[in-house]
Amino acid sequence: MERGGVVWGLMWWWMVAVVVTAEPLPRYYNAIFSFGDSFSDTGNFVIINSGKLPNMPKFPPPYARCSNGRLVIDFLAEAFGLPLLAPSANTGTNFSQGANFAVMGATALDLQYFKDNNVWSIPPFNTSMNVQLGWFDQVKQTVCSSPQECREFFGKALFVFGEFGGNDYSFAWKAEWSLEKVKTMVPKVVASMIGGIERLLDEGARHVVVPGNLPAGCIPITLTMYPSDDRADYDPRTGCLKKYNNVALYHNAILRIALDQLQRRRPDSRIVYADYYTPYIQFARTPHLYGYKRGALRACCGGGGPYNYNMSASCGLPGATTCDDPDAHVSWDGIHLTEAPYRFIANTWLRGPYAHPPLAALVRDDVVVY
Ligand SMILES: *[C@@H]1O[C@H](CO)[C@@H](O)[C@H](O)[C@H]1NC(C)=O
Ligand SMILES: *[C@@H]1O[C@H](CO)[C@@H](O)[C@H](O)[C@H]1NC(C)=O
Ligand SMILES: *[C@@H]1O[C@H](CO)[C@@H](O)[C@H](O)[C@H]1NC(C)=O
Repeated sequence: MERGGVVWGLMWWWMVAVVVTAEPLPRYYNAIFSFGDSFSDTGNFVIINSGKLPNMPKFPPPYARCSNGRLVIDFLAEAFGLPLLAPSANTGTNFSQGANFAVMGATALDLQYFKDNNVWSIPPFNTSMNVQLGWFDQVKQTVCSSPQECREFFGKALFVFGEFGGNDYSFAWKAEWSLEKVKTMVPKVVASMIGGIERLLDEGARHVVVPGNLPAGCIPITLTMYPSDDRADYDPRTGCLKKYNNVALYHNAILRIALDQLQRRRPDSRIVYADYYTPYIQFARTPHLYGYKRGALRACCGGGGPYNYNMSASCGLPGATTCDDPDAHVSWDGIHLTEAPYRFIANTWLRGPYAHPPLAALVRDDVVVY
């Protein structure tokens, strides 16, 4: 029995590997430029705040990431034959193969919006989407010179724009905004993102991938911070809190409509929505089917409690422990994912079905994309 299980397991992995690696992607892009928050930060937060914040968790190099390994952006870089993206805060780096502007805690809206609306829970990081676009302008000066040369350079690069919005909504929840009030932020967040993408298109960007929100109601920090006595607040199929997932679904729906409109206005570009939400919900519904024996709602690294998330003993702080089997968990630290689901999601964006069209189709001349 035991041996049969192992053989079958190997067979299964072998088949998956063949499907995924059968055709390596052509070396199509000269560079990747990434914007976003902690789901794609590859070191900026650690560099920017080193020596400034107390209790700064230690990250073993090269993984100054919120995970036990690589993120989706790392797997995309590997798939396209490029080095792992250098964090933009590492000034002096040669960014000619790309840069990553994403920072943990970043919002789509500027700090001022939160101050004007009394969202007291916003940390004073000032690393919003517009600030990241300002950093892009600085890096631009180091990778190309004439306007014509820059347009050509960015036209051969891949831009990954997001995830954005998850932090905007989480700061509003923390400031005790109602569902209706949080929803009023969504069109503003999406409009801000569309403005940012248009700025990149104006610089010559042609291929832009725009990830949507994750199901915030499924992550251990939300489940821990906002528990409910009313069972009707939980989705019986997943155990996730419906209210927080509703905002993510609403954001993703509005974003997709806006991206479709932008695509029609800019027919020379390819703007691809990339879905984090659906694969995550699949993990939460049937974790065993994907190899997550410890489920989707319990963090690997944390300080106890029903979801193994404890604000005063979160991953990296004293009092937290790390599981022996991170691959069996979807959640790494109660907010972010482990490497295994990031790898899975990256493959679904590259080969389908969770990006439309799949990124592999963008780089093959023989594939007609509608
Ligand atoms: C940066 O790296 C590229 C190759 O990736 C190289 O062609 C270029 O000369 C380098 N620039 C500098 C200033 O070292
Ligand atoms: C945030 O940074 C930008 C430049 O990067 C600056 O113009 C702006 O004033 C800063 N905002 C705050 C509130 O510090
Ligand atoms: C959370 O962590 C603190 C500090 O380590 C500890 O005192 C507390 O008991 C923990 N709470 C739970 C629910 O495990």
